[in-house]
Amino acid sequence: MIDEQRYGPWAVIAGGSEGVGASFAHQLADAGIHVVLIARKPGPLAETADAVRRKGVQVRTLAMDLLDPSAVDEIRQSTQDIDVGILVFNAGANSYGHEFLEGELEGFQGVIDLNLGTQLALTHHFGRQMRMRGRGGIILVGSLAGYLGQARQSVYSGVKAFSRVFAEGLWLELSEYGVDVLELVLGVTRTPAMERAGLNFDIPGLNVSEPDDVAREGLANVANGPVYIAGGNETAAEQRSGLDRAGLALGAHEATKRLLPDE
Ligand SMILES: NC(=O)c1ccc[n+]([C@@H]2O[C@H](COP(=O)([O-])OP(=O)(O)OC[C@H]3O[C@@H](n4cnc5c(N)ncnc54)[C@H](OP(=O)(O)O)[C@@H]3O)[C@@H](O)[C@H]2O)c1
Repeated sequence: MIDEQRYGPWAVIAGGSEGVGASFAHQLADAGIHVVLIARKPGPLAETADAVRRKGVQVRTLAMDLLDPSAVDEIRQSTQDIDVGILVFNAGANSYGHEFLEGELEGFQGVIDLNLGTQLALTHHFGRQMRMRGRGGIILVGSLAGYLGQARQSVYSGVKAFSRVFAEGLWLELSEYGVDVLELVLGVTRTPAMERAGLNFDIPGLNVSEPDDVAREGLANVANGPVYIAGGNETAAEQRSGLDRAGLALGAHEATKRLLPDE
């Protein structure tokens, strides 16, 4: 179980209402850590908050779109009276799955702004506080998609690759201050968002993770950064990191087409 003295008393979970974010909230609460949950839809947010509160910790909710220009300021203000020992940046699935020239730039911009802009802004804010206190943890939820370019996910793959490489640099910068940084790389995970998006979880042989399991792996390995690959996907990540980029991209293309719903 995660150490409350080191990563408490409060956690901020950006994208904390369902799926992996809700699993993080429950498991942090089990360790006695209070949580601030952020998500857009008030219903699931309130439901998760109530369930987590029943574990005896304090819960604050912020129903907001992390893409709203005022979101980061609002989060800063709503957390200025608490000591945040762990930040989980979970929101960030691909919300705009189009071939690049078929889609509109503003749609892709949302994927970039959430995964880069908001993630960096919250990491900067809470990271500074943690560095000052000499303890804490930052978990950025990444993806196997960040190891290989994929059609209809080119921008998403790019931002997840950025996040992983960024996490490595930040890990180097913060480790001497006692602040842990972890890029938690997920493969296909059975989240409500992906169920709604119509992902085909039933492809024979497909390795599908459960949100509780990957969150547990993330918390257990927060100090084992900069990158931890959850769900038994180490071989997949290694294979996707090879030098034959054309062969690898083409090889994964058919599998990706089977996984994603038609446009
Ligand atoms: N599921 C997979 O197969 C898979 C695979 C690899 C990596 N990942 C990564 O795992 C993370 C979680 O993915 P997910 O499948 O659970 O989907 P997700 O759409 O990222 O949703 C996760 C949480 O974030 C919130 N959220 C999403 N967009 C938001 C926004 N603009 N503002 C505020 N809150 C927002 C959602 O609630 P609301 O919708 O109510 O806002 C939910 O609580 C992502 O970073 C994703 O890249 C997932």
